[in-house]
Amino acid sequence: MSGEPVETLLAIESTCDETAAAVLTRDGRVLGECIATQEALHEAFAGVVPEIAARAHLERILPVIETAMRQSGVRGSELSAIAVATHPGLPGSLLVGLSAAKALSLAWSKPLIGINHVQAHIYACGLGVPESIFPCIGLVVSGGHTNLYRCVSAIDWEYLGGTIDDAAGEAFDKVAVMLGLPFPGGPHLSRLAQQGDPHAISFPRPLLDDPSRMDFSFSGLKTAVRYRIAGTGKGDWSKLTLTDSEKANVAASFEQAVIDCLIGKSLLALKRTGWKRLCVGGGVAANQNFRRQLQTACSDRGITLRIADPKLCTDNAVMGALAWERYAAGAVDTLELDAQPGLLRHR
Ligand code: KG4
Ligand code: ZN
Repeated sequence: MSGEPVETLLAIESTCDETAAAVLTRDGRVLGECIATQEALHEAFAGVVPEIAARAHLERILPVIETAMRQSGVRGSELSAIAVATHPGLPGSLLVGLSAAKALSLAWSKPLIGINHVQAHIYACGLGVPESIFPCIGLVVSGGHTNLYRCVSAIDWEYLGGTIDDAAGEAFDKVAVMLGLPFPGGPHLSRLAQQGDPHAISFPRPLLDDPSRMDFSFSGLKTAVRYRIAGTGKGDWSKLTLTDSEKANVAASFEQAVIDCLIGKSLLALKRTGWKRLCVGGGVAANQNFRRQLQTACSDRGITLRIADPKLCTDNAVMGALAWERYAAGAVDTLELDAQPGLLRHR
């Protein structure tokens, strides 16, 4: 062991409905981690309510940071930097994490590093893996985003395409509501889908047959499911009763339509760039059917596939290790750093 002090940073995540903090070493270890989920607060609304999310972050952010710091045994004065996800995300949620990060940066006189949350989801694929994931095609598939990127390095990347309406996770969650499943519905729907036939119903695969676009669209698919369940009239679809096997078939056929779109457009991006490595992150990347089918599609074509570890697919602060890359490149921010709710395509 060398006598060199271990370099650490504190990473903060509050972009949507998870309040998280982690203390991360430069050589990839997690010394402390805490995540406070808000699922129970949003369940009654079957979706994240931005105002409730922001208030909950406010209540939780300091205890979450304190817990991660205490677990790590690292003092604030010993940190190398404070990192925070500043974009994209819900404005009120982002501001809570950013304000906490700025306050600690000022109090402890530490550099502040803003990171891109979507990029961090892709970076999660490389955590715990010795070799670099770059260059790669990155797919982020979560509750708020479904985008493809050409990632030259951790700090140099280009947007190739993305959803023109709903994110895949949003579609999973809304279809789950139609099937009477709890929020967030993605994991519940995928469990139900295991019992159904993915070919029972032929749902649309929007934009899949258009090779000129590396984009996705899930809103029409969602509507097709709704019509399939309740017809096109104005009846109260929430009161309709499907048999268990009909529900499982809807779930499996819907899931398969989403998977086909995600795989089809990822392969298109790989073909168009000629690149041979695909890295996938975000909550929907925890879906077992998707992981399995994507692995087969990539193996068949000689593509190296990295999918984030399932526990790093949903929002967390450990993927804030991306900040070390910005730190090494001198891409440090000032207290002028602002939250950017919208998708920034190159930062
Ligand atoms: O990455 P994430 O935690 O939040 C965003 O940044 O949006 O992703 C949450 C999304 C939710 O829509 C959730 O239903 C979906 O990921 N999800 C899944 C699965 N696990 C989580 N969707 C499909 N299958 C799963 N197993
Ligand atoms: Zn996310």
